[in-house]
Amino acid sequence: MKVMGILGSPREGGNSDILLDQALAGAKEAGAEVEKIILSRKKISGCLDCEKCNETGVCVIEDDMPEIFQKILDAEAIIHSVPVYFWSMTAQMKAYLDRWCAFFDAQWKWHKAYYPRMKGKKIGLITVCGDPDVSTADPIVHSFKTTCQFTKLVWLGVVQASAGAKGEIGKNEAIKKKAYELGRKGVNT
Ligand SMILES: Cc1cc2nc3c(=O)[nH]c(=O)nc-3n(C[C@H](O)[C@H](O)[C@H](O)COP(=O)(O)O)c2cc1C
Repeated sequence: MKVMGILGSPREGGNSDILLDQALAGAKEAGAEVEKIILSRKKISGCLDCEKCNETGVCVIEDDMPEIFQKILDAEAIIHSVPVYFWSMTAQMKAYLDRWCAFFDAQWKWHKAYYPRMKGKKIGLITVCGDPDVSTADPIVHSFKTTCQFTKLVWLGVVQASAGAKGEIGKNEAIKKKAYELGRKGVNT
């Protein structure tokens, strides 16, 4: 099985990247083939709400999203990792998430062509915020969890961490273990 990691931080080697690597290591140890996509290396524009994909299931924007759509379809589990920017997710992660629009018809039902490959897909989340109170990231959790519930995907859960300086989270063995376990859960659920 395939587990994909989606990094929403532009800071490679930063806190959410470290935790995502932990999750992917857990998934790999549990037998998965893993791949990480660093969104900031990709060209991903915002959804235009042109409604063309409602009919076709294909987004009209010509950027790097088509290759990511394929990887989403191929993966059994997707683990997203993102820091809090201004009490919300990063622009990179939001642009990516909004483009999921292409999977749905005008009634927000899965396009028939995608449903068999999306049904049962498992979604996990890792958040990092500078605030010592990890609930600062709750709006991001709400966004991903509700999307999951609304589209009947399988919610693997969330690991919420606090760290400020680049790589600081590397010292936090307890949270790294939680991220590792989230990755394992992506395979074993
Ligand atoms: C533009 C920007 C906005 C931020 N806004 C918040 C915020 O609203 N709340 C918070 O707790 N931390 C905020 N932070 C801090 C980051 O969430 C924190 O440094 C985090 O560890 C970064 O993760 P990374 O290393 O994975 O990029 C912000 C950082 C940046 C660069």
